[in-house]
Amino acid sequence: MNKMLVRGGTPLKGRVRTQGAKNAALPIMASCLLLKGQKMVLDNVPDLQDIDTMTELLRSMGVVVAREGDSMEFDVPEDVSCEAPEPLVRKMRASSLVLGPLVARYGRAILPMPGGCSIGSRPIDLHLKGLIQMGAKVEMRGGFVHASADRLRGRRIYLDFPSVGATENLMMAAAFAMGETIIENTAREPEIDNLAAVLRGMGVKVDTEGTGCIRVGGVDGFRSCKERVIPDRIEACTYILAGVMTGGEITVEDVVPEHIDALLAKLEEAGASFSVSAAKNGAENSVAVHPAGKLRPISIKTMPFPGFPTDLQPQMVAALTKAGGVSFVEENLFQARFSYAAELNRMGADIDIKGNTAVIKGVDRLDGATVSAADLRAGAALILAGLAAEGVTRVENMEYVFRGYDAIDAKLRALGADVVLEAVE
Ligand code: UD1
Repeated sequence: MNKMLVRGGTPLKGRVRTQGAKNAALPIMASCLLLKGQKMVLDNVPDLQDIDTMTELLRSMGVVVAREGDSMEFDVPEDVSCEAPEPLVRKMRASSLVLGPLVARYGRAILPMPGGCSIGSRPIDLHLKGLIQMGAKVEMRGGFVHASADRLRGRRIYLDFPSVGATENLMMAAAFAMGETIIENTAREPEIDNLAAVLRGMGVKVDTEGTGCIRVGGVDGFRSCKERVIPDRIEACTYILAGVMTGGEITVEDVVPEHIDALLAKLEEAGASFSVSAAKNGAENSVAVHPAGKLRPISIKTMPFPGFPTDLQPQMVAALTKAGGVSFVEENLFQARFSYAAELNRMGADIDIKGNTAVIKGVDRLDGATVSAADLRAGAALILAGLAAEGVTRVENMEYVFRGYDAIDAKLRALGADVVLEAVE
């Protein structure tokens, strides 16, 4: 099933529930490797390709993984294999998240240089530099990272960039280091707090403060733990944008409003109409989108959290293709993240890429075309454009989209969209 047919033009209506966050679940799953001979239970885990890949990776190392509905259990043996199989790591860059827990807890790790979405060069130098500062020995041999250590030592580490993955890897490594580790200039994404809560559940003292400085007190042993994955802010925002772009009337349930402030602020500036409901009487936070006509043009720069997320940049550009004027969207995290612009132009959009900025001249209509997703969020942007276009859009390479969006076809159909999946011969 790797092609989606989208017949555009229907204003979406109804309610859609946000899945658990892929980018929170992946590092938490990797953190189970700290639990020699113990268990971790994780609730609200989305049913996604990337979660399957991480499951396969953990199983290949000896972890017993069971899934029932959205709950997963990880039963970790006393000893695990410390070598990550190349095909799995090539498939998903987040596989590098096993590095920190493996080196810290088992004293060694062998990891092929990671692959993943084709959104530009994505090094792991900051992960490795931090581990080296904590006393690990790291060598690159034939495209593999070989890392080893006796017992890591807590250190003060300054990250040159607030990398999400490096922050997570080093937090996990620090959990079993001797003494306290202070990581400065850390990522502040909500997924980091979810991982911190899991480490606390394992018995580790973690202080995140939300200021870009994280303190982790290393421990000598861990206890079994249970945690819930936070709602997926990128998925929630993708559906909010689907509502906005189709002039629909939809409610996106189970959102944490402070996690999506950047999008809401920009939508408000662009003149979209929505309301945020706070949780009460057992109901969850939700965002309701109301019809509001053409968006006003705006300027956006992607930044680490709490800035505008790079993972929403393609979907936001799709929304601005029909704005009433010229918008500017600057990409500051991943240089190759405009692959989808040429595809949107095939649908009648007018996007010019100048360096790291997309200059988007609003057009009156988009027309259905056959377009191809080059990565996960690019695929989401093309689907959104298809929903707002006249006629039929065929989005190829849907396998990228299923890495991050659980049942996107069924969820859109439940909102009244005319979408179907088709296998490509
Ligand atoms: C995570 C997310 C991804 C999101 C990204 C930025 C997961 C599983 N993935 O990816 O969806 O797009 O955050 O919000 O959570 N960098 C270095 N050296 C390093 C590490 C990163 O130079 O060692 C650079 C990257 O090239 C990039 C920037 O730092 O320019 C941000 O990357 P990072 O925050 O590490 O992203 P990921 O953790 O890979």
